[in-house]
Order: sequence, then C-alpha cells, then structure tokens
Amino acid sequence: MTQTTSQAPPSRGCRDVMDVSPKLYSLILSVADALDLISPELASHHKRVAYVASLLAKAAGLRGAALENVVVAALLHDAGGLTLKSKLMALEFEHTHSEHEEYGYKLLRDAPSLGEAAALVRRHHAWWGREAHLPLGCHILHLADRVDALVDKRRQILDQAGEVTAAIAEHAGLMFDPKLTELFREIAARESFWFDLASPRIGSLVLAELTANEGARDIDLGADAALEFSRFIAQLIDFRSRFTATHSSGVAACSVALAAKAGLSAKELDLIRVAGYLHDLGKLAVPAELIEKPGTLTDSEMNVMKSHTYLSYHILSRVAGLEQVAAWASFHHERLNGSGYPFRLRGEDIAPQARIIAAADIFTAMTEDRPYRAATAPKTAVGVLKDMAAHGLVDQQVVAILAADLDAVHDAREQAQTRALEQYRNFYRLS
Ligand SMILES: [Fe+2]
Ligand SMILES: [Fe+2]
Ligand SMILES: [Fe+2]
Repeated sequence: MTQTTSQAPPSRGCRDVMDVSPKLYSLILSVADALDLISPELASHHKRVAYVASLLAKAAGLRGAALENVVVAALLHDAGGLTLKSKLMALEFEHTHSEHEEYGYKLLRDAPSLGEAAALVRRHHAWWGREAHLPLGCHILHLADRVDALVDKRRQILDQAGEVTAAIAEHAGLMFDPKLTELFREIAARESFWFDLASPRIGSLVLAELTANEGARDIDLGADAALEFSRFIAQLIDFRSRFTATHSSGVAACSVALAAKAGLSAKELDLIRVAGYLHDLGKLAVPAELIEKPGTLTDSEMNVMKSHTYLSYHILSRVAGLEQVAAWASFHHERLNGSGYPFRLRGEDIAPQARIIAAADIFTAMTEDRPYRAATAPKTAVGVLKDMAAHGLVDQQVVAILAADLDAVHDAREQAQTRALEQYRNFYRLS
C-alpha cells in the first residue's frame, strides 16, 4: 500500500492543522460515489444521471442556480433509497412515486446548500402527463434517471443508443415532457454523449459542467456548514439500520469529549467531530444484513466488513479540504501494534487524533444499546480498553484520559445518541 506512506497522517505532536472547509461540489460528488457503493448494478448511477441532467438542463435554457440545483439534485436523487432493495426497485423503468423520494427529501432539506435540490428530489419520479405543473427540474431528473435505468451496463453502450432513445420517445407526453424528449433526442444523436456516459471520467465531466455554469459557486463550506453537512452524511450512513441509527453521532461526541480533555485546539475539535461523523462512510458498501447479523461474522463476511475503512479513506481523501479528516476518520480499525486493518499501520503512522477516534469507536460500540444485546457498563468498557492498551492495540494515554473523566465522556456520548435516536424516530415516524 504505497499510497499510505505518501499520505500518512501527521505524526504525534504535529500542530499543523488545516481548517475544516471542504469544497461544496467535491463533497457532493463524493457523497454521490458513496451512494452507489452498495451494488455493482448501481455503479456511478448518480453521476451518470447528473451528467444527462446537466446536458438536458443546459439545452432547456437553465443557467446559474437553477442549473446547479438540477445537477446537485441528480447527484443525490436516490439518497433516500436507504436499503439495497429500494435502490434496485428505483431502477425499474415504470417506477412511480415512492417512499425513497420522501426520505431523500427529508434527509436533504436541512443540509446546507441542498434545500432547493431537496424539493426536486422529492418528485424525481413524477410523470409529466399527470403533473406537468411540477418544476422543470423534476421532469429533467425523471428523464435523466430513466435513461440510465434503460442502459444495460454489461453491453456496449453505443449498441443501445437507438433502443434507449426510442424507449424514451415512446413515453413522451405521458412519462416525459415532450419538449425535453426532443432535446434528449438531439443530445443522444452524438456518439460522444454515449461514450461520455460510460466513461470512468464521468465524475470530472459532471464537475466540469458544474464549474462552467454561470455563477458557479464551488464554495469552501467553512467549519459550520461542514459540520452540518457531515451530520447529514452521518444520517445517510446510520439510518440504514436501527442497529447503527445513532452510532456516528456517538463516536463524534465521544471523540470530541476525549480530544477536548487531551487539550486539542478548537480547530482540531471541529475536524475531529467531522471525522467522527464520517468514520464509517464506507459502511454504505456493506449490506444491511451484515450490519444487522447478531452472531459473529464468517471470514468472508469479515472481508466485506474490512472494506469499509478502505472505502472511507479513498472517498474522503479525494474531497478537497478533507484530506486530514480522511486519515483521522479512516484509521479507526488500525491498531498500534500493526494488527489492525486495512492498511496495517503501526505506531507513529497513526496520528493522535486517529487514536482518539479508534478508542471512541470501541467505547461507543460497547456502551451503546444494540437491539440484540444490552449495553456494556462504562466501567467494564474502560476495563476492556485498558486491556487493549496493555496489549499495544490502542493508545494508553487516550485510555487514561477516558478513565480519568469517564462520567463526563460517557454523558457526552449518551446525550448525543439520545438526540440522534429522536431524529431517527422522527425520520421514520416511529413512536
Ligand atoms: Fe429514484
Ligand atoms: Fe435513480
Ligand atoms: Fe468502523
């Protein structure tokens, strides 16, 4: 793993900390990637739909914020498809209004810069013949989404150009806006459109469309919006299963409490909170049945599980402005003696901030309620961590800080998870 040596986290004592300020477009594109991790059938679905939507929106005369909202909505349109089943169902051609639109809307509406896109996501399967009054953006999303659903990813793409275009044209006036269908026919006449659609560079193509837009605002989010945004991503990760419904919130709060006791700066605390929210991002690739399996995992299941931190690292390290967060978040299963996964880092390669998140992850996992087992008492959990520290697995100093301030750290974790549980229940309208 040569890339880990070149991108190793800062070593112990380093205080050269960046502001947490990811670029908006690059963060949204990375969420789009994460949404498609779960199945090869979905490979790049969100980016492909965004590419088609950007061309359609431009052809229809949209510019500025109106164009940006359509592309951003397309990049996140199936965010509410929290299970694999609902994601695959959404690919069926005549799919109509369903709960994943409403869930997507509820997740996106409160995230910074996503409010307008949320409204489009809410009705991205609406049929033009029934609801022509909806914003043009909804009809663009619908058509773009169906184009990608019609493409068979195993076949040569240009072989399918005629049949896909014909299938879209056939539904003009009922499923699709006839004007958009005509614009699509013009776009689809170019071979390059189809090659672009199947290209591994599709992410850069979408980014190029976004940045070429008049009034493009690929802003630095700044610390406050970055925190809000990462809370939204944590919900995408955690709400897939009641077993993990509050986990990332607990790890974030526990890590920040430990880091504050360790005397880290306010800037570092912000970064650590973001890292806590995002540490399990790669779990979006792990099927919910594995996450919910009550017994021990088989070797093969464990191999799937092990991919989650690898994926967290590779997705997060591509986000401009989150490089440091990527290392702190993704090394939470590395162990000081080199026995962790997936990079087999050891000792000084694991930054103090990453050591804090590793200990917080273990402590939170043990002390949080799980539907299939009772929570471990905080004192018992610290005992386990002390034992792990003695065996060179986790950082002795971090465990000492936890032991010295156990009640305060535990309270912080518990309060955060109680709040997150309330949000989870409201989201699914559970009592
Ligand atoms: Fe959908
Ligand atoms: Fe979709
Ligand atoms: Fe994890």
